[in-house]
Amino acid sequence: MSDKIIIFDTTLRDGEQAPGASLNIREKLEVARILKRLNVDVIEAGFPIASPGDFEAVKEIAQEIQGPAICGLARATEGDIVRAGEAVKYAQAGRIHTFIATSPIHMEFKLKKTPQEVLKSAVEAVKLAKTFVNQVEFSPEDSSRTELPFLAEIVEAVIEAGATTVNIPDTVGYGIPQDYANQIKYLKENVPNINKAVISVHCHNDLGLAVANSLAAIEKGARQIECTINGIGERAGNCSLEEVVMAIKTRNDYFKNFYTEIDTTQIMKASKLVSHLTGFVVQPNKAIVGDNAFAHEAGIHQHGVLTKRQTYEIIDPKDIGLGESKLVLGKHSGKHAFKDRLEQLGYSLSPDELQSAFERFKVLADRKKNIFDEDLEIIVEESFIKSSHETYTLEYINISSGNKSIPTATLQLKKEEHVYQDAACGDGPVDAAYKTIMRITGVTANLLDYSLRSISKGQDAIGEVVVKIGVDDKIVTGKGVSTDIIEASARAFLDGINKILKTEKKQQVKKGI
Ligand code: KIV
Ligand code: ZN
Repeated sequence: MSDKIIIFDTTLRDGEQAPGASLNIREKLEVARILKRLNVDVIEAGFPIASPGDFEAVKEIAQEIQGPAICGLARATEGDIVRAGEAVKYAQAGRIHTFIATSPIHMEFKLKKTPQEVLKSAVEAVKLAKTFVNQVEFSPEDSSRTELPFLAEIVEAVIEAGATTVNIPDTVGYGIPQDYANQIKYLKENVPNINKAVISVHCHNDLGLAVANSLAAIEKGARQIECTINGIGERAGNCSLEEVVMAIKTRNDYFKNFYTEIDTTQIMKASKLVSHLTGFVVQPNKAIVGDNAFAHEAGIHQHGVLTKRQTYEIIDPKDIGLGESKLVLGKHSGKHAFKDRLEQLGYSLSPDELQSAFERFKVLADRKKNIFDEDLEIIVEESFIKSSHETYTLEYINISSGNKSIPTATLQLKKEEHVYQDAACGDGPVDAAYKTIMRITGVTANLLDYSLRSISKGQDAIGEVVVKIGVDDKIVTGKGVSTDIIEASARAFLDGINKILKTEKKQQVKKGI
């Protein structure tokens, strides 16, 4: 008999906490939809007390997404728990995840509480959460640096208080597989009521061991893994969903006692969507979803794969939804065919959204002969997901540049019904465009990072620019796409500026502060 491993996705909470990763509500909903298609068991949709936007996102996801449990994070305080309870109350199955730090260093220096005070807060938090939902998860934050007898004491007390899941976070990515797994074993052996709750693991990747630690933990009794798409998250990130799920599936000979219910064919799509919306480019050699994960350069490898794929490939690319990019539509394709293909790709648009996406498609089809699935995905994401946070839109761009001329940009940006126009010179065409955008919007931003890549194939492929910009102490990521890379660069910068303008002043109530 094999045991199900519950997949708890925290892309929208811990993942979104990564600097520069912030998503708007429309984007969060889109991520939640793909998580549903992946068939994750739990979606941690956000931290409702953090800001009105976070609250709204958790609430909307709870209202729309059926199937996975929808979870809201809350510190072990009354205000946080009540807010989380209000946000998840519409869910088919709602969950509150409450936490308080238990390691000596966190208790002494951050919380300034004694262990007994921490234990009391934990128990009260769980009891209060239980008045809102049946599923209550408790995390002793920084578990991997917590003294084992105290960890066992608090785990026993919260289970007694009604916690249905106890999560053992390796908050700072300090764990080493055998050592971390032995903590789980210790709890199994020393907490009398441990079988009344599911043991969960939540591993950060500071030593690059998040996946290894999670896998080691299930062998000692953990039955829930917390993870994120592309492994995004605080600092070095979290356990990567695609890696841990594919490890369990691919090495089923070894992990024969475990399975997940993830529809792995949705992995590639989820990875691309999260990368596109957050602006976090996936490194080419990233396991499972990196561009090179199935690329074979050495002749001997290529020959092997052509003769028998399994000689050098342990995963069938189709299992993660990686197929040949289909040449689908062209400029003569009609709206019906366009809609059909989008539906096959998993998008269901409202009539207005469909119309706006179709108009973009026609513009692109005039500029680009071959339209691939990747192009359609970009059209959809650009035309109705991103547009929800646009304050300024790019109306017109003209660049003059060359090796003997001073690079100059003229731009028109539209805000509500007004069109603003200005021009500026710069060190190059991109710099000139950025200076013009700053003149028009009045926002002075530092360009911290800039990258350009092509999204689909061919010389007329769409170029995607990702920028990281800083304004005061705020850092955001902006993305822009176009067949023209200067235009894509301007769009990316403007996207970042729009995010800055729209960012609600989030109360900085991130964990523990
Ligand atoms: O890393 C961590 O400890 C967390 C908790 C809130 C579970 O994210
Ligand atoms: Zn975390």
